[in-house]
Amino acid sequence: MYNRLMKEQIDSTRLPQHIAIIMDGNGRWAQKNGMERYMGHQEGAVSVRKVVEAAGEIGIKYLTLYAFSTENWNRPKEEVDALMALLITTIQRETGDLMKNNVRLQAIGDIERLPEASKSELHWCLNETSKNTGLTLVLALSYSSRWEITKAVHDIAQAVKENRLHLEEIDEALIDKSLTTKNIPDPDLLIRTGGEHRISNYLLWQLAYAELYFTPTYWPEFRENSLFEAIVDYQKRERRFGKTGEQIQSEK
Ligand code: FPP
Repeated sequence: MYNRLMKEQIDSTRLPQHIAIIMDGNGRWAQKNGMERYMGHQEGAVSVRKVVEAAGEIGIKYLTLYAFSTENWNRPKEEVDALMALLITTIQRETGDLMKNNVRLQAIGDIERLPEASKSELHWCLNETSKNTGLTLVLALSYSSRWEITKAVHDIAQAVKENRLHLEEIDEALIDKSLTTKNIPDPDLLIRTGGEHRISNYLLWQLAYAELYFTPTYWPEFRENSLFEAIVDYQKRERRFGKTGEQIQSEK
């Protein structure tokens, strides 16, 4: 159960529209508790559930979770298999609640690389929840920014080569549209759990103006209150987008 006092500190008129999270620290949490690493991921899935529910409840529109990076394919096979299996069981267990809570699931990343069983379960859930109109939950799976940007450059170059696009038409808006995050607004707030202060190949283009929030809390211990705390911290900051503080004040 979360702390209502913390939730009440949130100004609902100035919510971040999009929160992106790097869910780090599952392995260390498991180690700290004398457990196998996969148990950290299992407990991490409980945090996913709690944070998704809390985000939807307070009116966040987009939540993007870094569930599996391109680099994660290099982990020991047993751990990769455990994460892929967890993806399936989590989708099977949670889709009912996603429907009840009006959550739409989306996925970004090189989904084609996922094993067949995970891919088909994911596609089923994407389809099932596609008409929901509340929170959009974006899972970054087999995702890395450099992969995404490389793919976008390739697609744009191909279009130029085939005369479907002129060089002069390449601008920021076109690049935005060529990324897997097209139709998703840029994150306003990035949260990284687990104590590291890194972006780790996550949404590099999209995070240009995001506020960064780092917490030592391991992901399995990051629950509703931790999310509310991060939002309260975000709301204390002034976002200037390259302008001066005076300009921002006079625009209010
Ligand atoms: C990083 O912790 C976390 C991951 C690589 C996986 C994140 C996955 C989940 C939270 C599980 C379930 C999610 C879904 C959507 C089913 P780490 O293992 O790198 O931790 P460490 O730095 O302590 O080793």
